[in-house]
Amino acid sequence: MTQHSLMLLPGDGIGPEIIGEVRRVMAWVENTHGVTFGVTEGLIGGCSYDAFGLPLTDETLENARKSDAIIMGSVGGPKWDGKTDYDKRPEAGLLRLRKELDLFANLRPALCFDALADASSLKREFVAGLDILFVRELAGGVYFGEPRGITELPGGGREGINTHRYNDTEIIRIARVAFEMARKRGGLVHSAEKANVMEAGLLWREEVTKLHAVEYSDVKLEHILADNCAMQLVKTPKQFDVILTDNLFGDILSDAAAMLTGSLGMLPSASLGESGPGLYEPVHGSAPDIAGQGIANPIAAILSFAMALRYSLDMGNAADQIEAAVGATLEAGYRTGDLMSTGMHEVGTKEMGDGILAALNEQ
Ligand code: IPM
Ligand code: MG
Repeated sequence: MTQHSLMLLPGDGIGPEIIGEVRRVMAWVENTHGVTFGVTEGLIGGCSYDAFGLPLTDETLENARKSDAIIMGSVGGPKWDGKTDYDKRPEAGLLRLRKELDLFANLRPALCFDALADASSLKREFVAGLDILFVRELAGGVYFGEPRGITELPGGGREGINTHRYNDTEIIRIARVAFEMARKRGGLVHSAEKANVMEAGLLWREEVTKLHAVEYSDVKLEHILADNCAMQLVKTPKQFDVILTDNLFGDILSDAAAMLTGSLGMLPSASLGESGPGLYEPVHGSAPDIAGQGIANPIAAILSFAMALRYSLDMGNAADQIEAAVGATLEAGYRTGDLMSTGMHEVGTKEMGDGILAALNEQ
């Protein structure tokens, strides 16, 4: 029997609730696909800070490194806002995990399930069939650039400093991922930056252009300014296939695109390096306002597990089944509060999990 090792990092807020539903789907895959998942669980974010004084310990990091795939819930919450040093806040644990494992390629598919085309903030005709893949650079840019910090100014007052920087190697390796993905999809890459105001954006544009000319001229490449990309996403989102962008613009643009699919609670993500385990996490945050109430949408987490099956465990077949089961459950009218509309059947986290498991068993 094939054995895979999985690291689960439920994290804060709604993280433990949605990862609870992932566990049930994992058990279904074990029972039906002749695999076993050796599961290690760890703390990340505020809960790790409370237990150990750090948002990610070396031990958790090393356990994550040894696993085949890491599934994370979410980090952060008001409990820790402003109460800890900047480098000890919950988000710093996640950023350290991404950086230490060099997970530079963040894949964020924004897919509109047909059953949800009316739940989007845009009219059905603009979003039905939407299928965009964000390829977000995840290990560089302003998230990690030095120098950074808050300094006292000599004449009084303070200054906050962050540095946005990218070198050619970093740009080329993420652009390559976008072109490779586009080849398997619609053959179109939009590369989004701000070459009009940022040198790092200009270098980005030049390096992407060169790589395209030398190795990927079969793929169609469009350069787009990131602000225009935001506007086009809410105007005519179906014009996009793959959107290649940096760490910060990718963070912002993918949240905007999430709403096109019905809810932020729908978007999964995969963060991959050149080798080693991938990290799979929902795009949404810890939703502290609804944490602990059993009403969070577990779909983004479950779809993230499906991405782990596809990209890290070579089980694309099981991933297809889970994605189909999510679609069927939505077709059957199951809606968590974030997706709710009249005539639908409002359910909590666990009932959504029940629905997905029932759909899996019917396949
Ligand atoms: C995301 C999140 C993270 C980010 C936070 C939690 C650090 O917003 O994955 O989109 O900014 O990358
Ligand atoms: Mg974000």
